Amino acid sequence: MPTRRPAMIVVRTRREAQDWSREMRAQGKRIAFAPTMGALHAGHLSLIKTGLEHADVAASSIFVNPTQFSANEDFSTYPRHEHQDLAMLAEAGCSFVYCPTVSEMYPPGDSTRVTVRDLAHVLEGEVRPHFFEGVATVVSRLFLHVAPDVAVFGEKDYQQLLVIRRMAQDFGFPIEVLGAPTMREADGLAMSSRNAYLNPEQRELAVGLSRAMQRAIGVIEAGLSMRGATEAARAELIDMGFESVDYVEARRADTLAPFGSETAPTRAQGRLLAAARLGKTRLIDNMPFQRK
Ligand code: PAJ
Repeated sequence: MPTRRPAMIVVRTRREAQDWSREMRAQGKRIAFAPTMGALHAGHLSLIKTGLEHADVAASSIFVNPTQFSANEDFSTYPRHEHQDLAMLAEAGCSFVYCPTVSEMYPPGDSTRVTVRDLAHVLEGEVRPHFFEGVATVVSRLFLHVAPDVAVFGEKDYQQLLVIRRMAQDFGFPIEVLGAPTMREADGLAMSSRNAYLNPEQRELAVGLSRAMQRAIGVIEAGLSMRGATEAARAELIDMGFESVDYVEARRADTLAPFGSETAPTRAQGRLLAAARLGKTRLIDNMPFQRK
């Protein structure tokens, strides 16, 4: 006989989220939490799976967070399909979903923001200066509303994972922040809600990003010039038909600081990070590297 899972609870207010969390705690259950902006795919669902490996119940949130979009970005057109998302979360074993309104997250007169320095001002932070402040602000509020024991974020947004870890440490949130590996399509393209913007021709070109990055990693791990490798990847992307490249950078995996030398030191943990535009769609990806 298949065991029946209890129905997934969906709430829209912080009060209900806090009550649910308190109730779980009273029952001695550890909560894992994976926040999202919806338009879910297998990458999001993998976070629920990882969460359940570290806790008794999994919670998620769906909230397209206005403060992490700038005026010229895609807040109003960001894909929204809550009904389908909720069905996917239930299927993945999620027990609780918080779907707050904008005024629940940003009450009237709201004027408090969370700024993470240094780490949040390089790479993505240079191209999207408002972005990490919006993310750190909303995630700190979600942490307070859901009060999980473990929070899971995708390595797909590697810099975001590091920024949230920093924020959680600095505030002393009693929450373990875990990273989960990037889920990819069969051809290697990192899954992303924004891939839905790509037309069939762009979708074919999009795989070029992960391929160019893999080639660059081969060069870096062979002990050759990091700059040579990243410049070659940039040029390849433009040749392939990408409109522009925001960055392709080989950095230290823990701090995102540049390596002091032109070639990666042996056994240093590195991360290759890239952002490029195909038409109006901005794609980001990152991969680990290590010189043998
Ligand atoms: P969103 O882009 O919806 O992503 C939600 C979570 O899913 C993030 O932790 C992200 O890194 C992870 N994710 C996305 N694509 C993935 C993939 N291909 N493989 C593995 N994980 C993947 O990131 C955000 O929303 C927002 O900034 C948020 C943290 C919710 C704050 O608003």
